[in-house]
Amino acid sequence: MTLRFLTSGESHGRGLLVVTEGIPAGLAVSREFLELRLARRRRGFGRGGRALLERDELTVWGGLRNGRTTGGPVGVSIGNAEWESWDEAMNPWAVCVEAACMRAVTAPRPGHADLAGSVKFGHRDMRNVLERSSARTTAPRTVAGTLAARMLEELGVAVRGAVESIGGVAVRTPETFEEWTRASLSELGVTRPEDEEALKKRILQAAEEGDSLGGTFVLSITGLPPGVGSFAEWDERLDGLLGQAILSIPGVKGVEFGEGFRSADLPGSRLHDPIVVDGGRWTRPSNNAGGIEGGMSNGGEIRLRAVMKPIPTMKKGLPSFDTVSDRPCTGHSERSDVCAVPSACVVAEAMAAWTVACAVTAQFGNDRMDDLKQRFASYTQRAERWNLHA
Ligand SMILES: Cc1cc2nc3c(=O)[nH]c(=O)nc-3n(C[C@H](O)[C@H](O)[C@H](O)COP(=O)(O)O)c2cc1C
Repeated sequence: MTLRFLTSGESHGRGLLVVTEGIPAGLAVSREFLELRLARRRRGFGRGGRALLERDELTVWGGLRNGRTTGGPVGVSIGNAEWESWDEAMNPWAVCVEAACMRAVTAPRPGHADLAGSVKFGHRDMRNVLERSSARTTAPRTVAGTLAARMLEELGVAVRGAVESIGGVAVRTPETFEEWTRASLSELGVTRPEDEEALKKRILQAAEEGDSLGGTFVLSITGLPPGVGSFAEWDERLDGLLGQAILSIPGVKGVEFGEGFRSADLPGSRLHDPIVVDGGRWTRPSNNAGGIEGGMSNGGEIRLRAVMKPIPTMKKGLPSFDTVSDRPCTGHSERSDVCAVPSACVVAEAMAAWTVACAVTAQFGNDRMDDLKQRFASYTQRAERWNLHA
């Protein structure tokens, strides 16, 4: 069975749900591990009032018993701490004429899903689109990705993320284990306090101007042996799968591996990473490929960079029109983030972990955690022994 998950729920609904399928039995998972990742998703100077109010109250409905997965679907819900004040607007049974509903939205925001989504589903009240396209729905995805990250941890595979730039201000990206750890604990996903200050200044400036910001972040995936993913079928390529997963995060507009777009300017002789034989074993002195060749991990660190556009909801507002009066107005505005790059980076860590877990379990099986560990370890040992003279 392959790994998959489904989510349900709206930004201001009663809560959000995730049901995962295919997580191996016997994986130890603690409440603290899940809660810590969810708390990190809410991080960041520049997050709006909503992120501060979110408490991410977790209820596990199945698939976990005595701190371990049972092999059944893991079902988790995240309650909405504000539900009482949204009950009337979001009630599933209340009947009203759409555009006259409580808190109806009729002025689509440029850059958001409102306009195309309401045309697609025929909604007069664009709240039906806004509520589901909201990034709050990345919380249940983060739960699924966190379960995957726990599974990968058991295999010695780590997925880490760090912010690289916000609104044109670039900061140092982590290189050492300590730096990655500092970035993971930092409010803005960076390694140095002075970088955090520089980014805060930039975000504050945008907030004062009623504007919003995007930026870039990097992911590092370590511990995979060569050959995870496949060159044989288009939809098994690991770079393609990771690209889709990261691009599925609202606001993410581009992903590159290793030297990525800069590869266009380099001759092949300078870009490709030489294979050097040293003591009967091969090594790669550089990693311009970003750890993936032929759609498979090549044994090196997988490095990807992603870009997130500025948040579409702005105090400033952009030209739009009101679908009830048909008159020009500014796009709808409600409590919003000014910048969400540090949070998007945490969601990306989760989505990358999920994707790698899918590829790993497709290759090594996923009924039992102990079997998976054994198969993964024996393949990795064989890959390490493999050399030109074996
Ligand atoms: C963690 C996170 C938080 C976000 N917060 C907001 C927000 O407060 N307001 C907003 O308009 N967009 C926010 N976005 C971005 C929108 O969800 C996104 O731009 C929108 O769904 C349109 O999708 P697209 O940008 O991929 O085209 C956020 C995205 C992420 C990943």
